[in-house]
Amino acid sequence: MEIANRTVLVTGGTSGIGLGIAEAFQKAKSRVIVCGRDREKLEKVKERFPDITGLQCDVGDAGQRENLAAEVLRRFPDLDILVNNAGIQRYIDLKKGRSELKAGEDEIAINFVAVVDLTSLFIGHLLKKPSAAVINVSSGLGFMPMLNTPVYNATKAAIHTYSLVLRQQLKDTSVKVVEIVPTMVDTDLNKTGREAAHVQYRGVSLAEYIPTVIKGLANDADTIFYGGGEKILSEPRGESEKRLLNPSW
Ligand SMILES: NC(=O)c1ccc[n+]([C@@H]2O[C@H](COP(=O)([O-])OP(=O)(O)OC[C@H]3O[C@@H](n4cnc5c(N)ncnc54)[C@H](OP(=O)(O)O)[C@@H]3O)[C@@H](O)[C@H]2O)c1
Repeated sequence: MEIANRTVLVTGGTSGIGLGIAEAFQKAKSRVIVCGRDREKLEKVKERFPDITGLQCDVGDAGQRENLAAEVLRRFPDLDILVNNAGIQRYIDLKKGRSELKAGEDEIAINFVAVVDLTSLFIGHLLKKPSAAVINVSSGLGFMPMLNTPVYNATKAAIHTYSLVLRQQLKDTSVKVVEIVPTMVDTDLNKTGREAAHVQYRGVSLAEYIPTVIKGLANDADTIFYGGGEKILSEPRGESEKRLLNPSW
């Protein structure tokens, strides 16, 4: 996929992996729009990258998704790439029942429903472009679940199966579907939860991780793993499911 001279919307492009992807497209002379909820983060992006357009939007809210799509399509009719990157992660003890589930943000709404709905809002537009893409960010935890993030794992497994079918349904169109499957990357994801649990391990740095993503896009990969992670696809499903990730950190 060409990353130069594109027009790309990166949800959750105000920090971490999303900002890394936004920056790479911007450096390649693409027009970049990012969205996020936190105004301060949007301001910081504007200071660092005056050419990147920041829009405030909570993708977990259906009305805000509709407004985002309407504004982006009105202001940026050349939009040809949607990157569904925004996501959150929570540690959840399922034994604690509904109070625990409702004590934080809704991972299903933000990580999964938003991706399906935003894709539906942009697909008609993207299909009219000679070359376009939907890029979904899942997670290694969608393939090998981690014990303390039960809902997160499931939303990411859902992104994977959704992306497979989206790709198949769009196979004879101009819209390419890419799934990015990050390993653990040192970002702000679940920072509060990790700090409370005294998690020391941070994963790979963004500086090390982002080039893998950009190389995968340039090579026209359908699915972009990190560090040989694609091996999990060739394992019998039962084998990978036996290896529930139960970290000692
Ligand atoms: N870091 C990892 O180890 C890892 C591993 C596998 C997959 N991933 C996936 O990579 C993606 C990016 O995560 P990250 O690690 O870069 O975390 P991050 O640094 O926390 O970035 C998350 C981004 O998403 C935005 N966001 C979160 N909820 C949002 C909402 N409801 N509406 C709009 N924007 C929202 C955040 O901005 P606001 O808070 O201002 O809204 C921020 O810009 C996520 O989908 C995550 O699941 C990360």
